Amino acid sequence: MSVTEAVSEQQLEQIGKIMKDKLGKDLKQFKKPFLNRRISARMRSVGAKDGSEYAQLLASNENEPASLFKSFSINVTEFYRDPFVWECLSSKIIPEIAKKHTPLKVWSAGCASGEEPYSLAILLSEALGNKAKFSVVATDISAEAITRAKKGQYTNMNIKNLTPNLVSKYLISTAKDSYTVSDSIKQLVTFEQGDIMSYPIDKLDLITCRNVLIYYDKPAQELVFKKFHKSLAANGCLAIGQDETMMSVEAAKLFSCVFARERIYKKVEVQL
Ligand SMILES: C[S@@+](CC[C@H](N)C(=O)[O-])C[C@H]1O[C@@H](n2cnc3c(N)ncnc32)[C@H](O)[C@@H]1O
Repeated sequence: MSVTEAVSEQQLEQIGKIMKDKLGKDLKQFKKPFLNRRISARMRSVGAKDGSEYAQLLASNENEPASLFKSFSINVTEFYRDPFVWECLSSKIIPEIAKKHTPLKVWSAGCASGEEPYSLAILLSEALGNKAKFSVVATDISAEAITRAKKGQYTNMNIKNLTPNLVSKYLISTAKDSYTVSDSIKQLVTFEQGDIMSYPIDKLDLITCRNVLIYYDKPAQELVFKKFHKSLAANGCLAIGQDETMMSVEAAKLFSCVFARERIYKKVEVQL
């Protein structure tokens, strides 16, 4: 066992089996170092001295499996995260996909507390003006994240990448260091709890799935990219996170890279 591994392979198997039995969740889709970090954090919280003691607690305590699964949801996010990506979406991608004559359909997959889909709604409002021209669907596996997202309440830290002009246009200052997204922007986003893998959605023009797949292993990423390919309309685009890559997955053949630094890809028409 390496120093970074809190639990042995065998204990990880055991924990995986308990999670499958109790919650029906498959831990095999996650990267092992990520699983180890999250399980270690839970072990510290509950005071378990090793992986075996933690596995026993997981099997006997009715709340712990849900608490462990909840800890896999890393909710770090902000408005216009990686501003140069948003600049590219605004100046290159939106004008291109907006050439079609039907309203644009956009999916923020793994939207956390809402900053990403609200950023999309702001960006699209700025670019296209009329709300009849687009819709934004935002999903996350975490029910708590979706509840927070629907509230749309943020601090200065969360909105630091927005210009003062955008803040005054689309957010309402409610108290010192507290802002709420305006109703006009809230109305443009539909939030739903759901797993990316099983969420039914199609005919999309743009998918943003940023800083989500980083925690999943290659076979799981493969399935998600195939799903995205199926869910996109012709010429639809996909934006992934700065630390993510499509390299080394078979599904990379389904996309062409249009902006490498920004990690933006376009659907390639192939029969699966
Ligand atoms: C780090 S946040 C990224 C938020 C935003 N996309 C961004 O880049 O700022 C990752 C989010 O993905 C969600 N997530 C992880 N696995 C998911 C899945 N299988 N289906 C839906 N959401 C998922 C987590 O709950 C978390 O809120």
